[in-house]
Amino acid sequence: NVNGNEKDPFHSTMVDFVNLQKQIDQLSAFSDSPAPSVTRILYSHNDVAARRFIKDLMGRAGLSVREDAVGNIFGRWEGSEPDAPAVATGSHIDAIPYSGKYDGVVGVLGAIEAINLLRRSGFRPKRSLEVIMFTSEEPTRYGISCLGSRLLAGSVSLAKALTQTVDNDNISFLDAAKSAGYAKNEDFSNVFLDEKTYSAFVELHIEQGPILENEGVSIGIVTAIAAPASIKVDFGGNGGHAGAVLMPQRNDAGLAAAELALAVEKHVLESGSIDTVGTVGIMEVHPGAINSIPSKSHIEIDTRDIDEKRRNTVIEKIQESAVSISKRRGVELLEFKIVNQDPPALSDESVVKAMESATQVLGLSHKKMISRAYHDSLFMARKAPMGMIFIPCYKGYSHKPEEYASPEDIANGVKVLALTLTNLSLN
Ligand code: GLV
Ligand code: MN
Ligand code: MN
Ligand code: MN
Repeated sequence: NVNGNEKDPFHSTMVDFVNLQKQIDQLSAFSDSPAPSVTRILYSHNDVAARRFIKDLMGRAGLSVREDAVGNIFGRWEGSEPDAPAVATGSHIDAIPYSGKYDGVVGVLGAIEAINLLRRSGFRPKRSLEVIMFTSEEPTRYGISCLGSRLLAGSVSLAKALTQTVDNDNISFLDAAKSAGYAKNEDFSNVFLDEKTYSAFVELHIEQGPILENEGVSIGIVTAIAAPASIKVDFGGNGGHAGAVLMPQRNDAGLAAAELALAVEKHVLESGSIDTVGTVGIMEVHPGAINSIPSKSHIEIDTRDIDEKRRNTVIEKIQESAVSISKRRGVELLEFKIVNQDPPALSDESVVKAMESATQVLGLSHKKMISRAYHDSLFMARKAPMGMIFIPCYKGYSHKPEEYASPEDIANGVKVLALTLTNLSLN
């Protein structure tokens, strides 16, 4: 029994980090962009192939695999009390354009390895253990972040919206999901989790920031996840010839977008807090010709804060700026859509304690920290006591190809996860 020997909870069984690294590398090959970058978009050919890879590994780990209508994948290890709420862990494997190999992946492959480690060490779960691979944590294709976990958490508005959502190529969510083998039944409310499904949820993830590496700390124990929001804005103007239309006659939709992007930065800085951030990561002009005045523009704004009220104030100011810029420039504000405006989430004290005690038993240094990135845990916290385990990553790099976490740090994360799962399973 894992709890029997505090000095060596895994009975000399090791994390197979050579094999785990091999799996991380193999998974990274399912990509729409060249290595070392990774691009894996929801329901694409590579996403479907990567899903097959994950299901295969879950099967080999002795987990029974099931999938829901949007493709959240669950691998279950039945405990000796199969009717008790289970303990779940997991993350995502979709990857934004030109990102890295570790974001999300460590929390899925690492979770499967944690299960393997527990099996090898002779552990027998009391509460069942489940590994979840969440669908589309990244908002890349349909603009909706944490799509799978948001739906599991019971978002009625999302369940409805998914029946009408299309991507930039006008491919509907339904068609894309069907082509990947999902959405056989178009009622997505059957994805919602029942209240007592899970007694706890834990996610292992790279920090995506520099603190652990800088301070030489092995494990971050997340106490809260910052509140994210995203906004889409469209401006429209008359466009016209870049030579013939004189400056006073123009209403340039591109310049309105540029001005709003600068306003985002200004309003974020006005908050006075280092915790407020804002990014314009998408900016498009139509028709996109050097000698044509932009007649349409589209920008997408991401803004976050650990303080929800302060984040909401920034959103209000951005909206006021969008209106005033459009008036002053004589362009039309065609759309100002708050796509999501999510509250922050707090980790649960019981899960924090389980993670802390795991680091202590394993003799690993740890510190409590907040997550500035969002995660599926933000939504799982609505359905179960939640906690997150962070591991260091090189220079805090993430969402770019240089993202890296060392096999040793990943192995530490897997051990802490495995021991946390045992604590929660036996409780
Ligand atoms: C997740 O990828 C995030 O943007 O925080
Ligand atoms: Mn990410
Ligand atoms: Mn992630
Ligand atoms: Mn738009």
